[in-house]
Amino acid sequence: MRILILGRDGQLGRELAALDWGCARVESAGRERADLATPAAAALVLALRPDVVINAAAWTDVEGAEEAREAAFRINAEAPGELARACAQVGAWFVHYSSDYVFDGRKSGAYVEGDVPQPLNVYGESKLAGEAAVMQAGGTHLVLRTSWVYSAGGDNFLSRVIARARGPGTAALPVVNDQVGAPTWTRTLAEATRLALRRCVHVADGGQFSGLYHLTPAGRCNWFDYAKAAFELLGIERELAPVSAGAFAARARRPANSELDASRFATVFGWTRPGWQDELRRCLGVPV
Ligand SMILES: NC(=O)c1ccc[n+]([C@@H]2O[C@H](COP(=O)([O-])OP(=O)(O)OC[C@H]3O[C@@H](n4cnc5c(N)ncnc54)[C@H](OP(=O)(O)O)[C@@H]3O)[C@@H](O)[C@H]2O)c1
Repeated sequence: MRILILGRDGQLGRELAALDWGCARVESAGRERADLATPAAAALVLALRPDVVINAAAWTDVEGAEEAREAAFRINAEAPGELARACAQVGAWFVHYSSDYVFDGRKSGAYVEGDVPQPLNVYGESKLAGEAAVMQAGGTHLVLRTSWVYSAGGDNFLSRVIARARGPGTAALPVVNDQVGAPTWTRTLAEATRLALRRCVHVADGGQFSGLYHLTPAGRCNWFDYAKAAFELLGIERELAPVSAGAFAARARRPANSELDASRFATVFGWTRPGWQDELRRCLGVPV
């Protein structure tokens, strides 16, 4: 099996490229070789003709997307559509990641795949358009919606709040406590992607698994609980102050509820859904 990973230099791309894929031949490309702003990425798929393309590249600047709608749609919607069509042409599986931000957060429980998306911001709109473009391309695909992605060494909420706690000052750090979701470690995503692909590619009728899935660990928390859990695991004593999201001047509106129900993915692919706290502990390298 030949796998092409796009977005090699992002949080998830790095994790996917570092994963042990067994006897598969893995090639990864960053922006310099596969720029999603141009047709280069789809052309690379047509030239290499891999069995699987995993797209970890995306416009992830949620605030910036509000001012750069066209660019965000190019990277998150048009380019994934081109990639998915190139995959369909060469008979490759296409794996694409989407976001909890396709929802408006008004549901009281966890979102399932059948719930109607209603993005609150441009980033969410562009990710939703990307899902549709991939699903309409006519090839086999996995569109995996996830939330609150973090990785060791990546730029994310976790790394930023830890850096602030270890930085100068002693004042309590304000952290939002009225948005809930599930922090998702890139390792969890990469390992679950590998599990799903093994079933899709190695089973004769694997095409039946093509579709949209939610993929997050079990449990839910708000950003304040999440930071508190990390500080406890790392022995960081800096105080945290719970605040409403409204206290921060953000251009992009964000959903109050980002919880995704990943039971469909777990059932179809035989995935044991880990708890977010266990995965956080594993990422931070704290023994049980
Ligand atoms: N981060 C989250 O909290 C979150 C939540 C839900 C869903 N997701 C989704 O999960 C996936 C992975 O996210 P992530 O956190 O790993 O993102 P990330 O760390 O921001 O990485 C995104 C990667 O995309 C690349 N990229 C951006 N524009 C590009 C272009 N024009 N051509 C080629 N590459 C380009 C970036 O390249 P450079 O390194 O060159 O800038 C970067 O390496 C994305 O689909 C994202 O939408 C993320």
